[in-house]
Amino acid sequence: MPGIRRLTVDEVPAETKELLGLDVSAVLLFGVPAEKDPLGQGAYDEDGVVQTAIRNIKEVNPDIVLMSDVCLCGYTDHGHCGVIRGGGVDNDATVELLAKTAVSHARAGVDIVAPSAMMDGQVAGVRAALDREGFEDTAILAYAAKHASAFYGPFRDAADSAPRFGDRRGYQKDPANLRESLREIALDLEEGADIVMVKPALPYLDVIRAARERFDAPLAAYAVSGEYAMIKAAADRGWIDERAVVEETLTAIRRAGADFILTYHAKDFARWREEGSA
Ligand code: PBG
Ligand code: ZN
Repeated sequence: MPGIRRLTVDEVPAETKELLGLDVSAVLLFGVPAEKDPLGQGAYDEDGVVQTAIRNIKEVNPDIVLMSDVCLCGYTDHGHCGVIRGGGVDNDATVELLAKTAVSHARAGVDIVAPSAMMDGQVAGVRAALDREGFEDTAILAYAAKHASAFYGPFRDAADSAPRFGDRRGYQKDPANLRESLREIALDLEEGADIVMVKPALPYLDVIRAARERFDAPLAAYAVSGEYAMIKAAADRGWIDERAVVEETLTAIRRAGADFILTYHAKDFARWREEGSA
C-alpha cells in the first residue's frame, strides 16, 4: 500500500501525537504478530502487539480515541478469521477467542473494540465478556455489513493475512444482497453494538444510505485498502487530481449518510486541510 507502512510498538506514540496535532482525533489499530499459529494466539496475548501499542499510546496521548480491530486473520497461519475445525471455521469457538481478544484490548486501555470476523453472535459474545470483566464503558464498533470484497486485497498483502485456502464468503456478506446486509446491522444493534459500520464504502453507498434511513445508531463507513490504492495508483500516474478526488469521495460517503469515515487518506487529508487546500 503506497504511503502506508507497518509501525513498531515503539513508533506508534509519535505517530498518534502527530495525528492529534493534525486534528485527527481517532485511530483504528491492527496488529501483525511476529509469529502466526493455527489458533491466532497473538491476538489475545496480554503482551501482544496491539495490547502493547494501546498501552504505549495511552501513556503519551490519553486523549486520542483508540479503536482496535478484533479478529484472528492477522494472527492465524491459515489466514482465516477464526479457528478451523473439520475443514471450516468453528463459529462459536471463534466467538470465545474474539471475546478474549476484546477483553485484553480493554484491559490495555482501548476505548472502542471493533470485532470484524463476521462470526454469528460475535457482538453479543464480546459485549457479555466486556461487561463480565468490568468494562461496561468500552464501546463496540461492529463491522456489521462487511461484504466479501475484492477491495481488501492490498490490506491482506500488507498484513500477510490472505486465507491460505478457500475464501471468506462463508462468513462475509454477499455484495448482491442489500436486505441481508441490513438484517446484519439490525442483529448487531440487538446484540449491543454502539456503532455500526458498512464496508467497503464507495461501492456500497446505497447500503450506507439505506442503513442511515433505517437505523438511528451512529453509522461508520470504511473506505478500504483497495479504494485507497486505486486513487493512489491513478494519482501516481498523473491521471487524476488526488486531493480533489479524495475530497469528492469522502463527501460522497458523508452525503450517503456516514457519521464518520475510516480512511487511509486521513493523514493526507488532514495535511491538505492544514495547508488550506481541502
Ligand atoms: C480483518 C479485516 C480486514 C480488513 C479490515 N479488518 C481484512 C479482511 O477481511 O480480509 C480489510 C481492510 C481493508 O481492506 O482496508 N477481518
Ligand atoms: Zn479477519
